[in-house]
Amino acid sequence: MSTLTDKHIVLGVTGSIAAYKSAELVRRLREAGATVRVIMTAAATAFITPLTLQALSGHPVRQKLMDPEAEAAMSHIELARWADAILVAPASADFLARLAHGLADDLLATVCLASQAPILVAPAMNRVMWESAATVENCATLRRRGAVILGPGEGEQACGELGFGRMLDADVLAAQVATYFGDAELGGVRVLITAGPTREALDPVRYLSNRSSGKMGYALAAAAAAAGASVTLVSGPVNLPAPRAVDRIEVQSAEQMFNAVMALAPECDIFVGVAAVADYRPVHPAANKLKKKNEEMHIVLEPTADILAAVAALSQAPFTVGFAAETDHVSAYARSKLRDKRLRMIVANRVGEGLGFDADDNALEVIWDGGEQQLARAPKSRLAEDLISIIAERYHAESSTEDSGSAHRA
Ligand code: PMT
Repeated sequence: MSTLTDKHIVLGVTGSIAAYKSAELVRRLREAGATVRVIMTAAATAFITPLTLQALSGHPVRQKLMDPEAEAAMSHIELARWADAILVAPASADFLARLAHGLADDLLATVCLASQAPILVAPAMNRVMWESAATVENCATLRRRGAVILGPGEGEQACGELGFGRMLDADVLAAQVATYFGDAELGGVRVLITAGPTREALDPVRYLSNRSSGKMGYALAAAAAAAGASVTLVSGPVNLPAPRAVDRIEVQSAEQMFNAVMALAPECDIFVGVAAVADYRPVHPAANKLKKKNEEMHIVLEPTADILAAVAALSQAPFTVGFAAETDHVSAYARSKLRDKRLRMIVANRVGEGLGFDADDNALEVIWDGGEQQLARAPKSRLAEDLISIIAERYHAESSTEDSGSAHRA
């Protein structure tokens, strides 16, 4: 197992019969080198005593938000800052709902809200609760914001049912936390992603744009951060919050996106262009609001610079991945973009039928020199996780080939 030496873990324990496994979990995390401070919700204390977790962690167990004595020793904000990671195990359905909705109605939820550390949750609940639409949506929201969901496992449950909902065993969870820090798929890798549309001004109040919502690019940024990467997201105007642990730079126009990306690209290892960048912009945007006249209006457009091609053409180009949104000949057009823009990988998506632009679902065809993989229709947050795994695998495969002296740049 990878080491957790010097890592500060806040372990949140919520109300579930699986709370008895938290005692073993504290031991496993400490064996791996972590310092563990435990926060219990009121419901958790019905299943396991604070004294047990205090004895095993070597620190007083925090339970209440309004506790003058405990706050004097280490305030909840200090605790939130102290954490390198917050692991909630077991995470009940109720806690996942409160976390997804940003509630701060007890100490654990408040520390999660006040911390910038990664949040890992190990759900534990009856299988019907796990499969309920509310829990599925809450987990999708959490994933989108960058939380890592560990499990749950499948098997016989305390309630006698069979199915998914069991909290993963303590040694598996401790190993997964260690993996997150040590051997995460993209641990230590710098990833730069563009997302959303751009706006090309016609005058001070009008612009040319497109229907990109940013959902695909934001999901990818969240998945890359969850895979351990240090992520910068250059985003066009969208109505989405920045995913957890992602550095967001907001831009409006293709030119601003180009400048932001080109300043950052030499310092990144992987670049993924998910943004729907305008291909053309008005040559002469009006300084004042255009007035309506009873005659045809002609707007002269000029091409914008191609950000993806410019990144791929850098002398020390990062592993460059493009997206291609097509209505027809999806695979053929994507392959020609892979070749023409000299990319390492292209991700094709068909638009329409509830997929692609401004949709919650997508279906992807991932193509690289010598291989391809289909990702069937699924929510963008789920697809993003699979796509990040493919990108990580190809990136590492190419890096090791280059290290061994047979570098190949497409
Ligand atoms: O944002 P969502 O609503 O979730 O929708 C997601 C998406 C459909 C926008 C996304 O999955 C997608 O396919 N993005 C690429 C959209 C597109 O139209 O690409 P394109 O064929 O115009 O460009 C191909 C590639 O070149 C893209 O990686 C694009 O970012 C890049 N490009 C294009 C023009 C330009 N001036 N600079 C670029 O970098």
